[in-house]
Amino acid sequence: MTRTVNDHGREKTADRLLKSSANKFYDPEVDIDWAAPLPAGKPFQPEHRSSLYGTRLWDRLTPEQRLELGKHELASVASNGIFFEVLLMQLLLKELYNGDPTTRHVQYALTEIADECRHSTMFARSVERAGAPAYGPVKIVHRLGKLLPVIGYGPALYGSILVAEEILDRIQRESMADENIQPLVRMVNRIHVLEEARHVTFAREEVTRRMAELGKAELIYQRWLIAAVSFAITRSLINPRVYRAIGLDPREAWETAMHNPHWHETIRWSGERIMAFLDDAGLVGRPGMYWWRKSFLLGAR
Ligand SMILES: [Fe+2]
Ligand SMILES: [Fe+2]
Repeated sequence: MTRTVNDHGREKTADRLLKSSANKFYDPEVDIDWAAPLPAGKPFQPEHRSSLYGTRLWDRLTPEQRLELGKHELASVASNGIFFEVLLMQLLLKELYNGDPTTRHVQYALTEIADECRHSTMFARSVERAGAPAYGPVKIVHRLGKLLPVIGYGPALYGSILVAEEILDRIQRESMADENIQPLVRMVNRIHVLEEARHVTFAREEVTRRMAELGKAELIYQRWLIAAVSFAITRSLINPRVYRAIGLDPREAWETAMHNPHWHETIRWSGERIMAFLDDAGLVGRPGMYWWRKSFLLGAR
């Protein structure tokens, strides 16, 4: 793949993002009061975003079980956030490995790695503080994740990052605005949303630029890759082990969640913005449609 590292537009964007990063960034170590008590009875996520919400299984849960499930689902999403960020950091390191460190583009990649390092620490602290396990992805996804930095390149790779970032962004925006949610969670989400806006700008422009450089055969591979990775992202958010925390059979509860139209709608809603962008960019199409449909990101279309 040919790349023009000194691309003017790319350098201009990176320069602007570098300035913005210097002006506004958070250090979760200082900016979050980790010792503050967690008010009892306040949820860790909006109830209607639970994977079981709206099912008969949900109806049978006590208010305490619902609260506890929300805490474990949040821990699953946050620890998978770390998993996604680790993969993203590897991709950004590749930009440095292959690129010219005197360009603003590569310097911004380094800055974004620094952001993600702080985010992953912040997510880890929040899971630890909530007192839930850092579930992360299931084994198979954890293993396949190792392949991604090797087989992934081009617009699909940046596009996959956007899928992970923008899905989390939508979920976090909703809960940071909800006064009923645990203050610690709201603060973590607020910090993440503010810093992610720069990453989204960076990755969206990379998708557009790299689409213009693609050949026809590559496009087929790129469409397949982004669809398969996006499927893995949406399936990973909730680790089936969370259900065990409230005494449910993980297999049965997971099956229920995967057939839950409310959960499908939550996924569709969380990916609404990014799917419109990827569709416009030409990344949503054959041979990826099988995985897109299974990901729930397309909704009922
Ligand atoms: Fe992040
Ligand atoms: Fe990010």
